[in-house]
Parts: sequence; structure tokens; C-alpha cells
Amino acid sequence: MPKGSDFVVVANRLPVDLETLPDGSTRWKRSPGGLVTALEPILRTNKGAWIGWAGVPDADADPIIEDDVELHPVPLSATEVADYYEGFSNATLWPLYHELIVRPIYHRQWWKAYVEVNRRFAEETAKVAAQNATVWIQDYQLQLVPKMLRMLRPDLTIGFFLHIPFPPVELFMQMPWRTEIVEGLLGADLIGFHLPGGAQNFLYLAKRLAGQHTSRGNVGVRSRFGIVQVGFRNVRVGAFPISIDSGELDESSRRRSVRDRARQIRKELGNPTTIMLGVDRLDYTKGIDVRLTALLELLEEGRVDPEKTVMIQLATPSRERVESYIQMRGDIERQVGRINGEFGRVGHPVVHYLHKPVPRDELIASFVSADVMLVTPLRDGMNLVAKEYIACRSDLGGALVLSEFTGAAAELRQSYLCNPHDLEGVKDAIVAALEQDRADGRKRMRTMRRQVLTHDVNLWANAFLDALTHGGIAGGALMGSADYDPQEN
Ligand code: ADP
Ligand code: F6P
Repeated sequence: MPKGSDFVVVANRLPVDLETLPDGSTRWKRSPGGLVTALEPILRTNKGAWIGWAGVPDADADPIIEDDVELHPVPLSATEVADYYEGFSNATLWPLYHELIVRPIYHRQWWKAYVEVNRRFAEETAKVAAQNATVWIQDYQLQLVPKMLRMLRPDLTIGFFLHIPFPPVELFMQMPWRTEIVEGLLGADLIGFHLPGGAQNFLYLAKRLAGQHTSRGNVGVRSRFGIVQVGFRNVRVGAFPISIDSGELDESSRRRSVRDRARQIRKELGNPTTIMLGVDRLDYTKGIDVRLTALLELLEEGRVDPEKTVMIQLATPSRERVESYIQMRGDIERQVGRINGEFGRVGHPVVHYLHKPVPRDELIASFVSADVMLVTPLRDGMNLVAKEYIACRSDLGGALVLSEFTGAAAELRQSYLCNPHDLEGVKDAIVAALEQDRADGRKRMRTMRRQVLTHDVNLWANAFLDALTHGGIAGGALMGSADYDPQEN
């Protein structure tokens, strides 16, 4: 076998997407989302290989080396993009795992494509990984890869991390291929979730579903605190809350050029008293509609002054051919138009909305300039934007309005927490943040910064990889017990 890589990350996407320019030439550009934000610094340190899709159909790209990291593109046909990525991953699993904000669609054809593409990822990984290598598989698009890869390469140490919430048992049970997914994950040596609740849901399901095969002599599954025993193998299950490269962001946000740009942003907006900011992939889980409705009502009630307040909403385009995303974009753009139509003036809109990714330094300057950061998802595994905002506020200024239904809410208790389903509560949280006392705000920010700066992405990755390669769950958080029965609670 050729030497191969000792450390391999496998994710649906590479950290870069292949872009075709109008003249037909191609270039690589950073791909969207929190997974790339978190893993890019880890791979740069560990100098391994990254296996993933190049973000466009039928791309026949050769492996490339970037910052000492080997990038191995896995090609997807246009039909596979439609069935595996837009279909099963983002119109079945995504809404199911985000607690049915829209209704999941179950299609047998999409499932077949999901199995097929997962197999291709497993085969490519089997080729790239060195003997006894460590392989870290990422996220909901690749839940079958751990088992497929173990069958091809039993010598490997295999970890899996889920970047989105793992749903409650009664929701997961809707999934027609629930047993296959649980068994797919159980191919790993360690399965990580953001929060103990996700780990607990999985442990319960592993016992209930994978254990069903015992009578056929197939897989005997026994589980105890944090461990699922699959035949003679132990699969460990734990909670590892992900984070960001907070030191690097803190440093960048202190740069003079960034500070100057932050001041310039405020000036370009007409020096408002308050800048509110939202930064998201344009996704229905993010609750962009919630914050816009809250703002509209606050303006109508005279609790927010349109002459003194500006909201910036930066929205990266995402999954643009999936029906629920097309609808949501229309709804949000109508809401922005309505607020500006009713409360803006020529040259002074209340909401500044961009449907494009912004460059990193511009994003950091926006965080530095924002008096109130609005993070209002209906459901979010972690939400790195909330942590990025905190990391950028070395001046101890600003206030964070944060949905209780994000993983970040477990760590950022000094934010203005709100329930995004309770509109009055969201409005009150926004007003409290707008009116916060300076000394109180500084105290809150200091405490949250301590948390974010000491719990960075390196700590997350080291905790997971230590647990994966040395056993135990040191550094990872609590586990649940499979004997816990959510139906009884
Ligand atoms: P998700 O993984 O669901 O996309 P996260 O909040 O965890 O959500 O991560 C999103 C990442 O994408 C963050 O690093 C954030 O800074 C980045 N991002 C989001 N919106 C934009 C934007 N409009 N321009 C540039 N980067 C963005
Ligand atoms: O964790 C959420 C996630 O799906 C990641 O897997 C991905 O990096 C990000 O959101 C962006 O999504 P997509 O790859 O579908 O554009």
C-alpha cells in the first residue's frame, strides 16, 4: 500500500470551492459554513489530507496542496448533487435534525444516492489514508461512511463529529432508514456531538435500533454510560462543543486597519446611535425572519427610533436550489423591503441587506462596529457567529442577543438570551441590549470573552482527537446513559 496520510479529514465540502470565471478559467475560493471555519486551522496545524466535494457538479479536479494540506476532490454528478446533497442531506436530514422547522421529505431515490455517494467517500478515504491512520469524518452528509470505511480498512482509527443537533428520539424515529444511519455511525470508534443532549439521544437510539439485530445474530449492541458495545468493539459517545480560532480573531480585530474600517462603516451609515448586526448563511434555521419581525414591531411601537438605528444583515447565499430556501429568501427580502418602505428615508434605509459573503476583514470590522449582535436561530448546533462576535470585542463594548436554542447559549450565559418562538421575549431582549448600562455590558462581555478565549477550536479538536486516539473522554463533556428513556421524561 502507498504511504498515504496519517491524518485525514473527510467532509462533504473541501475548504475551498471550485469557481468557473466568465472566461472559462477556474479558481478556488473559500467555501461557506461553520465546519470550514472550525476545521481549517486544525488541518493547517496537523498537515493532513482533506477529502471532500469541490462544490460544483461534474468537477474533474486533481488533488491540490494548499498550506501543506492535501485536498482530494470527490466528484459528484449533477444528479448526485440534486439527490444526495440538495435532496437527502438538505431536504431530508437537515430539517429532521433541526426539529422540523420545515417538513422533511423522504424519497427512496435520494436515499439510494446518499448510500452511493457515502460509499464513494469511503473508497476515496481508504485510498488516501496511511496504514493505521486517524480518520475524522464530519457531519450529517456522511453518516454511513464510518461503517463503510471500517469494512474496507479495519486498521484505521475512525472518529465522527456531528456539526448539527442530533434530534430527539421521537423525531428521529420518522426516518425510514433510521437503523442504517445508526449502524453507519457505529462504525466509528468515537462519535462526538456538540451537547450532552445529542449524545444522550444517540445512545438511547443505538440501544433501541442497532440492538434490534441481535436476534438475527447480526450486531449485538449493549450500551452503558457513554459507551456502546458493538460485538467486541467499544464505540465511545461524547459531547465536544465546537469553537473558533478565538486568539487569531482577537488579534485581527485589534489591527488598526480593522478599527479604522469599523469607524468608517459607522460613518457610511450616517453615524447612527446604534448599529444592529446579523451574520448568517441564508438558512431558515437561523431565525432571520424572527429578528426582522421583532424589529418591525419595535419600530411600529416606537420602541426603536428609525432615525437613530440601523440594522445590517449579511446573508451568505446557501443551498439556492432547495425549495424551502428559495421561499425563505423571498420572504426575508419582502420583510426587508417592508421595513425600509415604511421606516426608511431616501439614502437612509433602516435595514442594509447583503446577499453575498463578505471578505474576512470586512466581517471582523462589522463585528467591531456592531452595538448589538442579533443571533436568533430557531435551532442551531452551535452557532460560531456568536463566538466570533465575542472574540472581536476586546474593547468590551457591544451586546449579544442570543437564542436559547443554539449550542452557544450553553456557554454564553451573559448574553441577552431569548426564545425565538416568543416574539415579545425577543423584542424585550433586543430592547434590553439596546439600553444596556455600560458597566454592566462590559462585565458581561468580559465573562463571555474569558469563556470564548479559553475554549477555542484547538481545545475542541485536541479533546476529540485525544479521546479518539488515547481512549477515555478527557476534555470532552458529559455523556448520557442509554438507560435514560426520553419517553418517560
Ligand atoms: P453554519 O455552520 O450553519 O453556517 P455558523 O454560525 O456556525 O453556521 O458558521 C458560519 C460561518 O460562516 C462563520 O464563520 C461566519 O463568520 C461565516 N459567515 C456567515 N455569514 C457570512 C457572510 N455573510 N460573509 C462571510 N462569512 C460569513
Ligand atoms: O454544519 C452545518 C453545515 O452543513 C456544514 O456541514 C457546512 O460547512 C455548512 O453548514 C454549509 O453548508 P453547505 O455545505 O451545504 O453550503
